[in-house]
Amino acid sequence: MKVVILASGEGTNAENILSFSQKRKRQFEIRGLVSDQPNAGVLNRARKWNIPVALIEKRQGREAHEKAILSQISSWGADWVFLAGYMRILGHKFLSHFYDPKLGVSRIINIHPSLLPQFKGLKAYERAFEANVPHSGVSVHFVNEGVDTGPLILQKSFLRKKEDSFETFQKRGKEKEFLVYREAIDIICKKYKEDLWSPSV
Ligand code: GRF
Repeated sequence: MKVVILASGEGTNAENILSFSQKRKRQFEIRGLVSDQPNAGVLNRARKWNIPVALIEKRQGREAHEKAILSQISSWGADWVFLAGYMRILGHKFLSHFYDPKLGVSRIINIHPSLLPQFKGLKAYERAFEANVPHSGVSVHFVNEGVDTGPLILQKSFLRKKEDSFETFQKRGKEKEFLVYREAIDIICKKYKEDLWSPSV
């Protein structure tokens, strides 16, 4: 699998994927990283890993932006997209470009910090914490045209402790994110290679 990472933020998930790619060299390879945010921490994190990094800001409409990203991805020869805190909704043309009839979905995956379908969308940690859930979780899923609605690949829960502040709660969640993203990548690599997909995943 030849992968491009899209990220808009701090980049801890992107770095987790980059580090994992070193351990799974035969399964997947990171061809490059694209960010849409000039000040994103992910840019510096990614540069440390000696991979091609592109900053592609949105200057016009979504279609033009996605076209520019697609052209960058094509030049790197990537056929999978791993979203790691990418803060934009992907449009139909972008999704279609990666559509894989064998999977029944696009070859694009995302991590979301909740037990989907709970707390879709922005500020999932904040909303789960405020809702006082006894446990929350993280999910890795395929991306479709909805917001955090694509088929699940893997999700795992973590405890909300009585003494938690928002920071300790989120920290526990973040640690879980890194494990779950790695495990989800392993699931995909294995299933894709062995042709074990059913249309509903
Ligand atoms: C993570 O919490 C991820 O689950 C969500 O966005 C956040 C990105 O954080 N989609 P980082 O930039 O990877 O540190």
